[in-house]
Amino acid sequence: MVQAVLNFVKGKWVPSAGGQTAARTNPADNKQTVSEFQLSTKEDVRSAIEAAKGAFEGWRAMPGPERGRLLYRAAEQMERALDDFARTMTLEEGKTLIESTNETKRGIDILRFFAGQASRSGGKTYRSGNPRTFVYSVREPLGVVGLLTPWNFPLAIPCWKIAPALAAGNTVVFKPASLTPLNASKLVSAFERAGVPPGVLNFITGAGAKIGEELVTNDDVAAISFTGSYDVGNGVQRARANARKMARVQLEMGGKNPTIVLPDAKMDASVEVVTKAAFGLTGQACTATSRLIVHESVKEEFLKKLITRVKGIKVGDGLQQGVEMGPAVDESQLEKDLGYISKGTEEGAKVITGGKQPKQQEMADGNFIEPTIFDNVTTDMKIAQEEIFGPVLSVLTAKNFDDAIEMANNTVYGLSAGLCTTNLTSAFEFADRVQAGVVLINRNTVGAETQIPFGGEKRSSSDTFREQGEEAIDFYTRVKTVYAIY
Ligand code: UN1
Repeated sequence: MVQAVLNFVKGKWVPSAGGQTAARTNPADNKQTVSEFQLSTKEDVRSAIEAAKGAFEGWRAMPGPERGRLLYRAAEQMERALDDFARTMTLEEGKTLIESTNETKRGIDILRFFAGQASRSGGKTYRSGNPRTFVYSVREPLGVVGLLTPWNFPLAIPCWKIAPALAAGNTVVFKPASLTPLNASKLVSAFERAGVPPGVLNFITGAGAKIGEELVTNDDVAAISFTGSYDVGNGVQRARANARKMARVQLEMGGKNPTIVLPDAKMDASVEVVTKAAFGLTGQACTATSRLIVHESVKEEFLKKLITRVKGIKVGDGLQQGVEMGPAVDESQLEKDLGYISKGTEEGAKVITGGKQPKQQEMADGNFIEPTIFDNVTTDMKIAQEEIFGPVLSVLTAKNFDDAIEMANNTVYGLSAGLCTTNLTSAFEFADRVQAGVVLINRNTVGAETQIPFGGEKRSSSDTFREQGEEAIDFYTRVKTVYAIY
């Protein structure tokens, strides 16, 4: 059944003024259409911004704890529809049902965390140098914020932008990725059922190049938070800087994340860490491990175990039981993955497992690809430098710990970085020296926790404001300072 996705503006579900729509198909079966969504126009974006502007004063005036109650109710609505959310995610994005269920639960947790934050994050008091002077600061909302989200976490990322934005008293125009409009609309429906006032949360779908630009350059939008590729993020930053000096932009972009395995690591546990980090979510996470840096003295043993484990990954339609890895999100991502596999081979690296599309008949209409590992990779190769965003792991061989850290830092990105070791000194030295926003010792590089700040360095992040945790509120508020003499 094809589901129609409308825009949500000023509390009403409406078609685009331009009357054009596009279809999204199931990545496990390209013949099946999942949804039909609005190809919105600039006029639609402007209506959404107007609605958000009109709702701002009322929303900002509402006491924080009351705004928090709305978020609790939205979480409750999501929880009631957990199975539908999870199924929709697998149908539309391709990740396995277990991954989709976990992500939906994570979305619910995020809403609850920020529901609580709506009662906190008020401000501070200060000691004045003058008598009978009371000084305090308050965190005030910015106004209308524009949120641009990617397809790979179609619920969690919208939740971790919408929830702090609303908790802090902003109104929102939310534009999801065109590959996952249905998931996004279901999230907005949960807010509607929770009783979000008209205009507080607005939702528009369509091509980023067209409507994203209007959102990013519109003078009535006080801040933009974007998660996606480096190239698009860079474009957002430039367009915004040209249109509106000093406007706030938060960018979360790509990664080429390493996991290092040292000789003292627990081998079996590390195999599991690397497998999940590289091939979980079909490698489609900006925090995924795409470079394995292994110490030469344990390389043979480790790769042998890793290949056995990875060969055992069952690829298939994420709705089927027992499937551990779903398809690439669409045909163009699949082409990109296969393109990098050819490039890696041309560059002199060697495929040691995977590398092809599965041959089974039932997978013929989907964007399936085998989990792939390249050995003999050197740091100068494209497969060691460029973000693939697929289930392709490049193995680099390190002579010693210093060599491994140097390799880990040899990238333009700096999002997450992993180390498998049982040596405390190596662990903390790594945490100190690695250029990454999130450091993982003996842990998967994917899967940030809600209550803990998240973000990257270098080309992975705008490096100004963190997302998630209580720090997330900083981006969505500004500090006002008040001096009062009594
Ligand atoms: C995570 O690892 O849990 O788009 C979060 C992404 C990242 C989020 C990763 N911004 O993949």
